[in-house]
Amino acid sequence: MRKQIAAANWKMNLSLQQAEELIKALLETNHELNTQHLAVFAVPFPYIIPVKQLLNGRQNVFVAAQNCSANKNGAYTGETSAEMLQSLALKYVVLGHSERREYNHETNEELAKKVDIAMAHQLHPIFCCGEPLQIREAGTQNSYVEQQLKESLFHLSAEQLTGFIIAYEPIWAIGTGKTASSEQAQEMHAHIRNVFEKQYGKAVADSISILYGGSVKAANAVEIFGQPDVDGGLVGGASLVATEFSAIINSLKK
Ligand code: 13P
Repeated sequence: MRKQIAAANWKMNLSLQQAEELIKALLETNHELNTQHLAVFAVPFPYIIPVKQLLNGRQNVFVAAQNCSANKNGAYTGETSAEMLQSLALKYVVLGHSERREYNHETNEELAKKVDIAMAHQLHPIFCCGEPLQIREAGTQNSYVEQQLKESLFHLSAEQLTGFIIAYEPIWAIGTGKTASSEQAQEMHAHIRNVFEKQYGKAVADSISILYGGSVKAANAVEIFGQPDVDGGLVGGASLVATEFSAIINSLKK
C-alpha cells in the first residue's frame, strides 16, 4: 500500500507556547500508526526546530516547512532556502499551496523550480493543486488541475515521482466549511492518478500518495479517506485542535 498521510498545515497560526501545547497534547494520545502511515506537521518557520525537538524519536512523525525559495541563496530578504531546510534535517516541504499561489503569485513555472531545488536538497515536496470556484462551476476542473501538474511536475523522472506526494485542495473548500463530497474527491483523485499513469505508467501512478485538503475534520475524515484514491489529508483549521487532529490521524486507511 502507498503511504497514507495525515498532514497538518498550521498556516500562520499559534504562538510558540500554543504550538508546544498542541504537540504535547497530541503526543499524549494513542495513534494507530503503522509503517505505511505518516503524520506530518507543516509549521511556521520559527517553530521547525522546537517542534522537531518535541517529536524527537517518534516514528512516522515529521515536521515540514510550508514553503521554500526557488533560489539557491543570496539577496532575497525574508526568504528561506531549501539548503537551509536541509541543514535542519527537514524531510518535507509544502509547495504550491493555493494561498501562496494567490497572495504570492506563485506560478506553475516557478513551482517547477521550487520542486527541483527542494528535491535536490533531499526534501520531499507535498505539492498542492486545486481549482477555484469559477473553474468548478464551469466544469473544467480536470483540465485545470492537469495543467498545474504538467507544468510543475512533468519534467521529473519516473524515479523522482515514485512515492511522490500530491495534495488536491479545491480552493472553494478551503476554510469555508464546504467540503468536497467524497465522490467529488474520489473523482478528482482518480483523474490525478490517471494523469500520472498516462505519462509515467501504472507503477508510478499507484505509488503516489494523493491527499485531500479542504475542510477536513474528525467528522468527515473516515468517509473521505476511505475513498480508494484518497491517501489521507492536508488539514488546516482542524489541525489546530488536538482532539480533532488525533481523530483525523486515526482515520487513515489501515
Ligand atoms: P482547511 O482544512 O482549514 O479548510 O484548510 C485546508 C488547507 O488549506 C490545508 O492546506
